[in-house]
Amino acid sequence: MTGSRPSEAPFVYEELVSRWEGLREGAPVRYDEQRETWLVTDHENVAQVLSDPKAFSSDFSGLTPTQEDFEVFRQGNFVGMDPPRHRTLRALVSQGFTPRVVTDLEPRIHAITEELLDAVDGQDQFDAVDALAYPLPIIVIAELLGIPVSDRPLFQEWATTLFGGDDLGDMLDMADIERALKAIAPTVREMNGYFLDHIRRHRKNPGDDLTSKLIGAEAEGTRLSDQEIVGFVALLLVAGHITTTALLGNALLCFDRHPDTVAPLRADPDLLPRTAEEVLRFLPPFPELGRRTTREVELSGAVIPADALVTAHLGAANRDRARFADAETFDPARDPNPHLTFGHGIHFCFGAPLARLEARIALRLLFDRFSDLAVADRDAVVTQNPAVIVGARHLPLSVRRAP
Ligand code: HEM
Repeated sequence: MTGSRPSEAPFVYEELVSRWEGLREGAPVRYDEQRETWLVTDHENVAQVLSDPKAFSSDFSGLTPTQEDFEVFRQGNFVGMDPPRHRTLRALVSQGFTPRVVTDLEPRIHAITEELLDAVDGQDQFDAVDALAYPLPIIVIAELLGIPVSDRPLFQEWATTLFGGDDLGDMLDMADIERALKAIAPTVREMNGYFLDHIRRHRKNPGDDLTSKLIGAEAEGTRLSDQEIVGFVALLLVAGHITTTALLGNALLCFDRHPDTVAPLRADPDLLPRTAEEVLRFLPPFPELGRRTTREVELSGAVIPADALVTAHLGAANRDRARFADAETFDPARDPNPHLTFGHGIHFCFGAPLARLEARIALRLLFDRFSDLAVADRDAVVTQNPAVIVGARHLPLSVRRAP
């Protein structure tokens, strides 16, 4: 199968996709006056920015509003750190979050997905985000950390407060961000207290979960402090939840838009991993990554001053014609597919194997259970703020149960 012919109906992300393609038309590195950031839009330069943490720092402390409640989370939140601290923390956490831990989760992800789909059994229409894409990754993270099932609702409530409402869509400047942070501060305090207790309990009675493994991890003569473990848990929630929700919804939207890709997938589920990569390329859940220059840097002839904000645009770089043949075409058979959706370099997504596993299982089980899946009402698909997260917030599906 090569590229697919799109259906006639409008695609909810059409505008976004053409905006990204438009971004590719200007110089690959240029200053965006309106957003006061250096915009980088081609594959080579985006990869360069992400692989040079000495020149392009991930540390925005001092630039973003600070609030005491959030400072406690910063400690283990290594996505916002540079080497050498980043290296130490990532090495420690890698000892707990091993490839084996992810593959061992497979039967549980399967069972949780079945459970979630059982809850909508018999309905010929349901919201795919509410029913599956939203709860699945959060339950998986909770299980990974050994959170008791009875506390799951609490966990889901926190995730909803962190990502809930439409506030994300309205955040435009620092004052907005500060207001949003203030609104979620009580939740952050509650989470912090809960996780510190959770860790203390695991110190006394270690189990086989990630929390216990993080407590026991040791590298370069150091161990993670309780507060660093809490910060990492917060990072898992922020980086690992809504992104995976977005991936699952985006896959369903791509299938709806390119219906002729579905039959081959149903016939040969081994095509699913490659298809998921193309969904990731086509609609990256985090379309933009921010960096800050530590010194003056020259990139493709553009001179970026020190201490400038840089936006590495994954959405545009994933459509770079110099890197992808037929870059505008959704091609589920694309191979190789060097998309940058999981980032690049030292911060490359830590949870990519887990996100891929969840997508593979969830899509496979959806296809097995329903002989027909269609977006019931494209106008009812509500998307997140596409500058922050590209993903559906609501996705009504109409389905027919497989015989
Ligand atoms: C980092 C995307 C799922 C945990 C990243 C980065 C991206 C990304 C772009 C790099 C950020 C940067 O360079 O500034 C995604 C996408 C996902 C996904 C698109 C789903 C489709 C997950 C999951 C987890 C996770 C499931 C864990 C449960 C992390 C962590 C980092 C990270 C801990 C920080 C790595 C570091 O700084 O060294 N992710 N992610 N992500 N991701 Fe993911």
